[in-house]
Amino acid sequence: MGNLQAPKSIVIKGGRVIDPLTSRDEITDIYIVNGEIKAIDVGLAQQIPDVEIIDATGLVVVPGFIDLHVHFRDPGQLHKESISSGAAAAVAGGFTTVVQMPNTEPPFDSPERIHEVNKRAEQESIRILTTGTITKGRHGVEAVNVRDMAEAGAIALTDDGDFVVDTELMKKVFEHAKSLDLPISQHCEMPSLVLNGLVNTGDISARLGIAGRSNDSEIYAVEREIQLAMETNGHSHIQHVSAAGTIELIRKAKAQGVNVTAEVTPHHLNLTDHALLSGRGNLPYDTFAKCNPPLRTDLDVAACIEGLADGTIDAIATDHAPHTVKEKQTDIHSAPPGLIGLETAFSLGLKLVDNHLIDLPLLIKVFTQGPVQAWNLSNRVNIKGLGSLEVGGIADITIINLDSVWDVNQGTIHSLGVNTPYLDDILKGSIMMTIAAGCKVYEADDGS
Ligand code: DOR
Repeated sequence: MGNLQAPKSIVIKGGRVIDPLTSRDEITDIYIVNGEIKAIDVGLAQQIPDVEIIDATGLVVVPGFIDLHVHFRDPGQLHKESISSGAAAAVAGGFTTVVQMPNTEPPFDSPERIHEVNKRAEQESIRILTTGTITKGRHGVEAVNVRDMAEAGAIALTDDGDFVVDTELMKKVFEHAKSLDLPISQHCEMPSLVLNGLVNTGDISARLGIAGRSNDSEIYAVEREIQLAMETNGHSHIQHVSAAGTIELIRKAKAQGVNVTAEVTPHHLNLTDHALLSGRGNLPYDTFAKCNPPLRTDLDVAACIEGLADGTIDAIATDHAPHTVKEKQTDIHSAPPGLIGLETAFSLGLKLVDNHLIDLPLLIKVFTQGPVQAWNLSNRVNIKGLGSLEVGGIADITIINLDSVWDVNQGTIHSLGVNTPYLDDILKGSIMMTIAAGCKVYEADDGS
C-alpha cells in the first residue's frame, strides 16, 4: 500500500457496527489511531478530545471488503483498466483488499513479473495482491516454478480464463503448492465440453441459435480439482461457481474434510441467461451479460444462494472484467466474456438481503472474513485483523448507506469499463466512505 498519511485519530460515531468475526452487531463508536483500531465502545466520540469525528448515524460500519478475483489489464490493455483505475473502482465499491488475476499481456508467469507488478501495486492506497499463472504463458503445457512464484509474492496460482487440463501437471503443482500453503484457484470449465459454447446450454442458447456451455463442463472440471485436493491434501479454490451440481460436489467434499474453498460472483447470484435477451444498442441481445462461466438458470441461481447461505461457498468475488463498449457491443460470437463488478457488488448482494434470502451479517461475512478464512489471508499477508474489526487490528473500514439508491452510469462508475448488464439501472445501497489502514481513500460525492 502507498504512503498515504494517516490522520492521527478518527472516531466513527454512532454507526451500526457489524463484525462477522466476533458476531458484533450494535450501534457504537470506533476509535482509530495511526491506522489501527484502538477501541470500540459507546460514547468514545464524547470522551476523546481533538479527534476527527465521522458521523455514521443511520449508516452501517463494516470491515473493508476483500475480493479474491479481479481483472486489471495492467500491463497490456491500460485503456480497459490500469492498476490505478482498478484501485479507484475498488475503493468506490468498498474494497480495501483485492486479488488480481494474471491474464494480463504479458501474463504474470514469472517471479520477475510478480515482483514488477507488486512494486507498482504497492503505490496504491489499498492492498492489491497478485496471483501468478499455473503454466508458462497460460498455455497449459509447462508448469511455472511454484516455489519461485510463491517466494516472489504470488498469493495463489491460476490460469484464470482457462482450465488447466493436464492432470499430471496439476498434480505436481498441487503437491508443490501444498508445502507452501498456496491456494490453487482454478477456472473450472472443461474445454472438451465447452467447445465453441458462448452461453449456457438451454432454452436461451436454443432461442438465440448459438452453441452452449453446459453445467457438465463445470462439474467435470470441479470433480478433477476435488480429486487432486483429496490426493495431495493441497488447497483447491474453485472460482466463480455457477452450476447447481458444482455446489453439491463442493458441499460433499467439505463434509469429507477435503481442503476446498469456493467463490461466487454477484452476477451468478442474481442473473440467469435470460439477462442476455434484453437488447442493447443495435443488438437484439445484451452482450454485457456474456461471461465465463455463463449465467445459467433459476435453479442454478437458487443453488448458488443456498451454497452461500449454508457456508459451502466461502466468499463473494466479483470477477471484475472490464472490456471496452466497442468490443462488447458486437455480435455475441466476437464479444469478449466478462463484466465489471467492483462497484455494483455490494448493491447486488444487498438484493439477497432485501429479498430475505440471506441476512446482512452473512452478506458482510462473505465480503470480509469469508475470503480471509478461505485463504488464511491475515496470516499470509501478516496483517492483524484483516477482514474484521478487531481492537489492535488494521483499520480497514467501509461505511454504507443501505437505503440510498444510485444510478449506474458512466458518470458514477470509476472503472474504465462500463460493461455491466446493470448499466443505466438504479441500485440500492451506497458506499459512503472507504477507509484503508486509517486513511480515507473514498468518500461519496454528495451523500447519496
Ligand atoms: O467472463 C470472464 N472474463 N471470465 C473469465 O474467466 C475471464 C474474464 C476476463 O478476463 O475478461
